[in-house]
Amino acid sequence: MAAAAAFAIATATPGAGPPAGVAQVTPVPATPETVVAGAELYRKYCRECHGPAGAGGIGDEGGPRPADLSDARWDHGGTDADIATVIRDGLGPDYYMPRFKDRLSEVDIWSVVHFVQTLAKTGAPQTAQ
Ligand code: HEC
Repeated sequence: MAAAAAFAIATATPGAGPPAGVAQVTPVPATPETVVAGAELYRKYCRECHGPAGAGGIGDEGGPRPADLSDARWDHGGTDADIATVIRDGLGPDYYMPRFKDRLSEVDIWSVVHFVQTLAKTGAPQTAQ
């Protein structure tokens, strides 16, 4: 799995791409496989707060309401890169939206992004049970 993940990153960033460290393209492509992997990770790490269909509102222990990830509104940006940054770094200063960079690899983060984007586009008929 780790080897496959490293391979995916290596093949997705050819030498002619954007400068190193500038994530202009989604480094892990959205494929049926990454979306399914993202759904799995979402179920494990995100559903407790954002709900099975991404509607949000669960587990807010006095903090801000966990955002609806299935609507068209993005307070922190709705591009793949924006969502990846939120997942990676969390949202300060209180981090009711925790940072996941210690728990998820880059491939995992982008896989979750791709799953989250399916929630947003479809108005949430999909669920991560
Ligand atoms: C402990 C509860 C909790 C968990 C777990 C959690 N979140 Fe959040 N999330 C929040 C809260 C609360 C906010 C709103 C924070 C704010 O607006 O300041 C938020 C905001 C977000 C946003 C920003 C939405 C916008 O409108 O811009 C995204 C994207 C997001 N979460 C994705 C995820 C993903 C993906 C996971 C799993 C990897 C996850 N969250 C796990 C609580 C959580």
